[in-house]
Amino acid sequence: VERTIGVALIGQKFMGRAHANAWGQVNRFFEPAVRARAEIVAARDARALPAFARNWGFRRWTSDWREIADDPEVELVDVATPNDLHAEQSIAMLEAGKHVACEKPLAGTFADARAMAAAAAKAKRRGRKTFVWFNYRRVPAVALAWRLVREGALGRVVHVRARYLQSWGGPKAGASWRFERDRAGSGAHGDLNAHLVDLARFLVGEELVLVHGAVEHTFVKKRGVDDCVLFLASFAGGATASFEASRVAQGHWNDHAIELNGEKGSLRFAFEEMNVLELFDGTAPKAKQGWTRILVTSPGVHPYVDRWWPEGHVLGYEHGFVNQAADVLRALAGRKPEVPLPDFEDAFRTQRVLEGALLSAREGAAVKLSDIG
Ligand SMILES: NC(=O)c1ccc[n+]([C@@H]2O[C@H](COP(=O)([O-])OP(=O)(O)OC[C@H]3O[C@@H](n4cnc5c(N)ncnc54)[C@H](O)[C@@H]3O)[C@@H](O)[C@H]2O)c1
Repeated sequence: VERTIGVALIGQKFMGRAHANAWGQVNRFFEPAVRARAEIVAARDARALPAFARNWGFRRWTSDWREIADDPEVELVDVATPNDLHAEQSIAMLEAGKHVACEKPLAGTFADARAMAAAAAKAKRRGRKTFVWFNYRRVPAVALAWRLVREGALGRVVHVRARYLQSWGGPKAGASWRFERDRAGSGAHGDLNAHLVDLARFLVGEELVLVHGAVEHTFVKKRGVDDCVLFLASFAGGATASFEASRVAQGHWNDHAIELNGEKGSLRFAFEEMNVLELFDGTAPKAKQGWTRILVTSPGVHPYVDRWWPEGHVLGYEHGFVNQAADVLRALAGRKPEVPLPDFEDAFRTQRVLEGALLSAREGAAVKLSDIG
């Protein structure tokens, strides 16, 4: 008989659509051992829910997310709501015995993130799993970068440059929970630096231990959150890293980019050309040295690609989410994901770096991350 797992989705807008699509496509493209069953969707806008449920294949809907806790058909709860709700919703569902996949940042505040990590640790002892939607890990070019670093293509990584720039947050931007401190926690920092810190930790495979200095800046003064946060940090092994997040950078739409420089070579990735990974092999004969542009679309060679299309038939934004849904189902079936999946504990470490950067900016001083409990 076919094994399925009932999924409840909370949130039905931007990420709600990305995740609903993933839970549908994953069955078709990955044929997982345990299939996803889109059981119920919850959100605030009751008028939008019937059409959403019909369109994305959910059997039921509710405007009261708390009902999901006692729903025997639901095993996995997918939290795709604004940051201030992540803790309340995730903890309630973990306590009700559900697995939880939560959007990033883990939470809007460090205190919420800590409570979530504690709840996840407790639930883990009862066999419940947690996941965080750091979906960019599962872009094939990024997963390939992870593999190449582990194969030694760069040698020891000594320097990371990471930027995540968007342009929509200028003075004319409309009202959004993303500009409210109570709802979002921070601005570009939690929104964008969260992804960068996750990718840097994931690719290097070490923890960041020190924030040397940071700048937090709000260009649009009436806002309660930052528009731009820049910081410098060091990894446990001594590699240095720079992080830049801004939502007021004209000409950058979703410019999420990372470069790793190692003793033997370098790698760089930029999401607006997400099918490409660039590699520089510093051990090649000097006459032939130069950046290699790898089109990461070869089935059977590049991660995830065998589930999609023939070579050169490029992927898009939504595929990272489908790839993540596939890995979540693998993990729930007791199998190994294609590349490591972040759980609440892992995302809490990312949150600690974010907290350290804010403290550094506000105190004008270096911050040792082990001092943040
Ligand atoms: N992984 C990524 O790349 C990525 C991209 C965008 C957003 N996100 C994250 O996803 C989360 C949601 O962001 P979004 O862009 O989808 O926001 P959104 O504003 O588009 O959607 C928020 C949804 O939450 C629902 N909601 C709000 N309050 C609720 C409540 N009290 N009870 C139930 N539902 C409620 C709304 O009805 C809406 O459906 C955020 O944490 C954000 O940081 C992640």
